[in-house]
Amino acid sequence: MSGETFFTMLGRQLAGDIARLPHAARERVSEAGRVGRAVNVSDLRELARRRLPPAVFDYVDGAAWDEVTARRNESDLRELTLRPRVLAGATDVDLSTEVLGQRVAVPLLGAPTGLTGLVHHEGEIGIARAIHGAGGVYVLSSAASRTLEEVAAASPGPRWFQLYVGRDRGLVKALLQRARAAGYTALVVTVDVARPGARERDHRNGFTVPPRVTARTVLDGVRRPRWTANFLRRPRILSEGLLSSVAADGDAGSLAELIGRQFDPSLSWHDIAWLQEHWDGPLLLKGVLRADDARQAAGLGIHGVIVSNHGGRQLDHGPSTIRALPEIVDAAGAELEVYMDGGIRRGVDVIRALALGARACLAGRALVYGLGAGGQAGADRAVQILIDELRLAMTLLGCPSIGELDSSWLTAAAPTETRTAWST
Ligand code: GLV
Repeated sequence: MSGETFFTMLGRQLAGDIARLPHAARERVSEAGRVGRAVNVSDLRELARRRLPPAVFDYVDGAAWDEVTARRNESDLRELTLRPRVLAGATDVDLSTEVLGQRVAVPLLGAPTGLTGLVHHEGEIGIARAIHGAGGVYVLSSAASRTLEEVAAASPGPRWFQLYVGRDRGLVKALLQRARAAGYTALVVTVDVARPGARERDHRNGFTVPPRVTARTVLDGVRRPRWTANFLRRPRILSEGLLSSVAADGDAGSLAELIGRQFDPSLSWHDIAWLQEHWDGPLLLKGVLRADDARQAAGLGIHGVIVSNHGGRQLDHGPSTIRALPEIVDAAGAELEVYMDGGIRRGVDVIRALALGARACLAGRALVYGLGAGGQAGADRAVQILIDELRLAMTLLGCPSIGELDSSWLTAAAPTETRTAWST
């Protein structure tokens, strides 16, 4: 029997065996089946940890210095206790809300995340599709792996564009024009990256952009064959955005360093006024943590602020976003919309932030864990989990609509908490 005949026969036999496998068993081994068994975001994180090379997982999961702020984002959210109302008949929960004058089905936005294509070739497209599938807004990063035109074409739902303001203002203007032309309706200017944060996991792992091939990366790649096959077939690192010229030089560094080299460290309120002149839609500042900065933003006619500490990836040892939120909501006044990101791992976390005055939340890592766990199916699963949890929690809380959330749905701050920071 020739080798070819033997392998043909073996192939036929295997195909027959697989076809006979009960549907449920086949589903177990498919990407959708694997992520479908994840019951929460923490499960998706664990699946992503097992599927991604350690350096890629650490880039997503890690934060600056001791990662205190990143942990605080999650633990401070959990400290807030919900106060359910009984017999409220809240079965048809209305999750819709208005962001920048646009009605959206859910109070959840996809946060801008850089280098998402390293996790899975779908990259930002996978996450945009997942969030749009649920009726939310996607915020595309200017450090994305896919171009802003690609993402707009592949997932034409509501979209905003996040900008790192580079030293080269000509490049910034060109990027703004492209974003406008591709239907991005709002500009989110990140203001907490005057210098790159110290991501110690990335330093230890030698994680650079573009990646350097070392004995260790090869070994890690062999240990993660599913990720490696995906990456080698369709490598996606940085799109031709604001940062690509540096990446194209082959001048490797961490993404934070790359952003640091391009970012204008002298960025000030004057530059925000310059951006307002060059962008004719709504403008939001991302990375605001103090009331005085929120007041200044409101005074300049900025449309919104995102209370954010960059997922703890920039200045460590600062406040969690949920603790910073109340003073900013107080300072914002009627015109400035307030959003929050950081530590959103459960649907109830969205309730907590909205109860303290956020208009909507942005989820970053939670969705990237999903993408890392199983590509598009995983990103969809992450969004579905958060929204299902949010709907269930609203029902059990006895609150029929997002618009009715306020601090009365939370218990007063515990004695150990700093009362001034929690104006509930
Ligand atoms: C990019 O914004 C990052 O935090 O890595």
